[in-house]
Amino acid sequence: MAITKNVIAGICTAFLFACGNTPQTGEKKDFIEENIEFARAQIGKELDVIEASGKCLNPVTLKPDSSVYYCGYADWRSGFFPGSVWYLYELTGDTTLLPLAVKYTEAIEEAKNLTWHHDIGFIINCSFGNGLRLAGTPAYKEVIIQAARSLATRFRPVAGIIQSWNVDRGWQSERGWECPVIIDNMMNLELLFEATRLSGDSTYHKIAVSHADRTLAEHFRPDGSCYHVIDYSLKDGSVRHRQTAQGYADESIWSRGQAWAIYGYTICYRETHDRKYLDQALKTFHMMRSLKQMPADLIPYWDMDAPNIPNEPRDASSAACIASALYEISTLDVPDAASYKAYADSLLVSLSSPAYRAPLGTNGHFLLMHSVGSIPHNSEIDVPLNYADYYYLEALKRKRDIEREQ
Ligand code: GLY
Repeated sequence: MAITKNVIAGICTAFLFACGNTPQTGEKKDFIEENIEFARAQIGKELDVIEASGKCLNPVTLKPDSSVYYCGYADWRSGFFPGSVWYLYELTGDTTLLPLAVKYTEAIEEAKNLTWHHDIGFIINCSFGNGLRLAGTPAYKEVIIQAARSLATRFRPVAGIIQSWNVDRGWQSERGWECPVIIDNMMNLELLFEATRLSGDSTYHKIAVSHADRTLAEHFRPDGSCYHVIDYSLKDGSVRHRQTAQGYADESIWSRGQAWAIYGYTICYRETHDRKYLDQALKTFHMMRSLKQMPADLIPYWDMDAPNIPNEPRDASSAACIASALYEISTLDVPDAASYKAYADSLLVSLSSPAYRAPLGTNGHFLLMHSVGSIPHNSEIDVPLNYADYYYLEALKRKRDIEREQ
């Protein structure tokens, strides 16, 4: 990706907006409001396309022919578009978005019964979780609890973890794994904590804590970076392999994995107040921020050990997820809390600049450009991804909430 002088000028301008919380002069709009307006217009165009189709389409990314890829309810990414519409409804107060958020959310309800993969947390928490928070629909509670029941079927007591992937089909069956757990799975725990709150059944909370503890023990290297995949023995719970699936190498720093770890352990701290979880989130973040190869605009390469840095694709989805987590961290009792908000602000400035934020009406109506799905699978390289947009909107909302209280 070529970063031109114009793009750098755009980043600088956006940075000036972001730094000042005082009203902007003249016709200049506040940084947050301008980005919300853009998101409303851009996603509004996607909503027009979907509504005109007469179907309940669920946009994920762009295909190689530049058409939009839409997914079904079982895809791990099916909750992000409904979740983005909820965030847009919250950010704009536009009540015309409410019935759409409800419709796209309820279209994926069947995901609550999925037991063949672990991503039920991503799917149901981003959609029904936000729906419950914003609309309070009582029926959504039972959906969340049922989803937690489904996720709990994947708990393997011998290892104390939730199995991420099945190994009886697809490319996962070719790796010789018995019980693979990926760091991404930390993101599914929020659903379990919520299900215990809603149901009063502590089983889900206990499973989440067990998973977080074993992952803390096995997934991390001494420098705070994490492996992508840990394969456990189903006979005795021991570790069989430490590997990658979506990173450059087993020992490399796959950026989105680090983002899932930072965000996931921040959730665990919020839910348990156990300081070791926050310490891990901070350690992983400080490892990332101190990497010499981190680019000046702070948007990570897809893997921070990829061989052709600086000529490697960036991953805006990692940056958006880390930004959102850092806003939460900045509200916690941590030394130098303001520095985490400052770093998150810098990430949002970069993401909102012309280098990453798409021009209105382009990019398949996704907000952000330049994310990476999986380079080892030659899939979704330097494309928009709906989860980059979701965490970008969440980060904008968190920034707005924090600044309103200041
Ligand atoms: N959970 C899959 C990914 O992060 O790409």
